[in-house]
Amino acid sequence: MQYIEIAGKKPLGGALTVHGAKNSVLPILSGAVLIEGESILHHCPDLSDVAACGAIIAHLGGSVTREGDVLTVNTQQILSPTIPKALMEEMRSSIIFLGSLSARCGKACMFLPGGCKIGARPIDMHLKALKTLGYRITFDGSNICCERGDAKGASVTLPFPSVGATENVILASVLLSGRTVITNAAREPEISDLADYLNRAGARISGAGNSVIEIEGVSHLHTTEHTVIPDRILASTVMSAVAATGGDVLLKNVSLTHLVPVLGVYEEMGCRLYAGHHELRIQSSRRPHAVKSIQTGVYPGFPTDSQAPVMASLCTARGSSVIKETIFENRLQHAAELCRFGADIIVSDRTAIINGVKSLHAAEAYCTDLRGGAAVVIAALCAEGTSRIYNIHHIDRGYESMEHQFSLLGADMRRVYDEKG
Ligand code: UD1
Repeated sequence: MQYIEIAGKKPLGGALTVHGAKNSVLPILSGAVLIEGESILHHCPDLSDVAACGAIIAHLGGSVTREGDVLTVNTQQILSPTIPKALMEEMRSSIIFLGSLSARCGKACMFLPGGCKIGARPIDMHLKALKTLGYRITFDGSNICCERGDAKGASVTLPFPSVGATENVILASVLLSGRTVITNAAREPEISDLADYLNRAGARISGAGNSVIEIEGVSHLHTTEHTVIPDRILASTVMSAVAATGGDVLLKNVSLTHLVPVLGVYEEMGCRLYAGHHELRIQSSRRPHAVKSIQTGVYPGFPTDSQAPVMASLCTARGSSVIKETIFENRLQHAAELCRFGADIIVSDRTAIINGVKSLHAAEAYCTDLRGGAAVVIAALCAEGTSRIYNIHHIDRGYESMEHQFSLLGADMRRVYDEKG
């Protein structure tokens, strides 16, 4: 068993280079399946979810090799249209292979995806959208089979701007004849990054980043090279940690535009922000101020993935803050873990009221999911005493060696390998 041990109350300082965005790399790796050739991908973080995508590609007949943060993905040959249950259950993003694999092979069969337990997370929008394109789908509640048949470009209107469904429609339509128009598409920066990557490989996608995306089908995609955008959620996780512990940190390799939805919240907490060229410095010297109201929303709203880390910072704020989670139905489970550190949080349905306390004390706590795990780490970083964090496999899905990154910033944080545990 592994756990993380943190001796808290050390202000953070120094510089950190933000790794590439997990939520970009995963759909891009699925997009690689469409390419009869090689993809050289720069700034790919070494995460368990990325490894899981690599295992899927290897199972399908391709290969993924890593040198530092560069992945070379060879998808010249895709031999199998099937992804086994064990690989599908590693993460939620495995469902994004549905569009690309059925487009490339003419047929794809897979099991329901796994991923963080933050709500029901159905895939109805994915399936309905692919059907609108003409794909034939059979789904028995567990196994999904999708056949390309004579699918062709069509108008797809999503009932909600789902990130995953938007990605699946893009991936399923790039190689179809005719034009596909997605209305009410997700606008997250990771959608634009996927489109940029595919366009480099010869796709004709326009409008990504807006609510209407147009895809003009092409006959094939070719070898390409791409640099993944910075991980805005890692940036905001570190910013939340600085807000909680105090300190002075320079974040390198950030997109300020992508961080706009969160900057105001840190300013409201009393942090001082200095923007540079692809850099952001954050300083905080005292207890955060409470934040009146945060409501998560689709981009450019406040990201649901930043909700848990920000909640951790607000535990020691002067006054009470309110956070409303609107995207996922069950994404406040970390609140109970934060209370182990002495936080005062009342959860009702999808709303949390965080009554700031003067300080947190050390605790033994569990990562409830990926971002909930980050929240617990932040609580431990600002708590008095030594804490232990368990279930850290959740953190490894989305943060590359988190203990190393925070240690670089002066935290006393280490991973413990306990053979007996
Ligand atoms: C992606 C991100 C995740 C982020 C989320 C919202 C990746 C790998 N993951 O997840 O980190 O928190 O966007 O920004 O990029 N829904 C349905 N039916 C569907 C699809 C979605 O009801 O077919 C619902 C979901 O249950 C959820 C909401 O729509 O309540 C948003 O989900 P979606 O945008 O699809 O999130 P993901 O793509 O799973």
